[in-house]
Amino acid sequence: MITVPVGLGDRSYDVLVGWGARHRLTEVLPVGVRRAAVVTQATIGVEVDPGVEHRIWTIADGEVAKSLATVEELCRGWAAWGLTRGDVVVAVGGGVVTDTAGFAAAVYHRGVAVVHVPTTLLGQVDAAIGGKAGVNLPEGKNLVGAFWQPSAVLCDTEVLEHLPPREYLSGCGEVAKYHFLGGTDLVDLPLDERVARCVAIKAEIVGADEREGGRRALLNYGHTLAHALETAGHYDLRHGEALAIGLVYAARLARRLGRIDDARVTEHQRVVAGYDLPTTMPPGFDHAELVALMARDKKATAGLTFVLDGPAGIEVVAGVDPHHVRDVLEEMVAP
Ligand SMILES: NC(=O)c1ccc[n+]([C@@H]2O[C@H](COP(=O)([O-])OP(=O)(O)OC[C@H]3O[C@@H](n4cnc5c(N)ncnc54)[C@H](O)[C@@H]3O)[C@@H](O)[C@H]2O)c1
Repeated sequence: MITVPVGLGDRSYDVLVGWGARHRLTEVLPVGVRRAAVVTQATIGVEVDPGVEHRIWTIADGEVAKSLATVEELCRGWAAWGLTRGDVVVAVGGGVVTDTAGFAAAVYHRGVAVVHVPTTLLGQVDAAIGGKAGVNLPEGKNLVGAFWQPSAVLCDTEVLEHLPPREYLSGCGEVAKYHFLGGTDLVDLPLDERVARCVAIKAEIVGADEREGGRRALLNYGHTLAHALETAGHYDLRHGEALAIGLVYAARLARRLGRIDDARVTEHQRVVAGYDLPTTMPPGFDHAELVALMARDKKATAGLTFVLDGPAGIEVVAGVDPHHVRDVLEEMVAP
């Protein structure tokens, strides 16, 4: 078992990564917990034993479940059961479950402890780490949320065996991103070490900038186009697939702006293709709509804003000329 600490002062916690990590749950529950509310989804089929009285809450599948209605349902259920502030929520699932249960834990009784047991690759290397929790509104994704750090995270690589292949691939999109955030060694590592290395990269960034005042924005590398593709495509693309295209796009845009050379663009394409992920724009997207969506990105406070590679490394670049943004989209359409 590999332990990766997330250093956040009195909100610090450990992430345990390895085969069977979920069986360490009783060891990581906060002291004095009497009850555990386990939140999961029907199709996941990953059982955990908190070693204290517990009940299971099953939420629906997909982005629609990441809603205030689900949060209300969970909080009302917990209140009816008598879950107290000294108890714990255990989120067992992908990003949809950890984001939703994490946010419900953040607001229930103004904050009850949560332990994440991420069961997707994307959850293990990204969503369950760093304390961002939240739900969607009909107006947009992740519009309501909180920073609420878990007490511990158990990344059990055994449960990834049952993950549908497309979901595994989606997680690889985030792994590909970490290649460019200091993880050039990732591709050669066995799965447990690869997950732990991604967690360590994220932990280091989150530890330096918990509330995204600066460096944490780098974790959005490739995400500006990815989010636009997901929104315009109404989530037909899995997040990691959209991110893969977004990473190559970010490299090509950086090349267009003279920030990197052709070899660096080729490296992006090679890494992304190495995970069997797409490197070209899928057909059928309205590019004007994508540019408009990118202009509404949360980072875009001063014109079109991207996280881009460059001579000083990866950084936030504001005020990018919309002509370049559109031209690079055209360039990336598969012949
Ligand atoms: N909080 C953050 O920092 C952060 C970061 C990245 C992504 N996210 C969020 O994460 C969500 C996406 O998460 P995701 O990609 O894990 O998708 P997901 O949670 O929808 O899970 C994908 C599918 O896999 C199923 N599944 C999960 N684990 C399984 C297992 N072990 N075996 C079989 N099936 C399993 C789920 O039921 C679901 O149908 C998005 O809502 C995104 O906004 C949050």
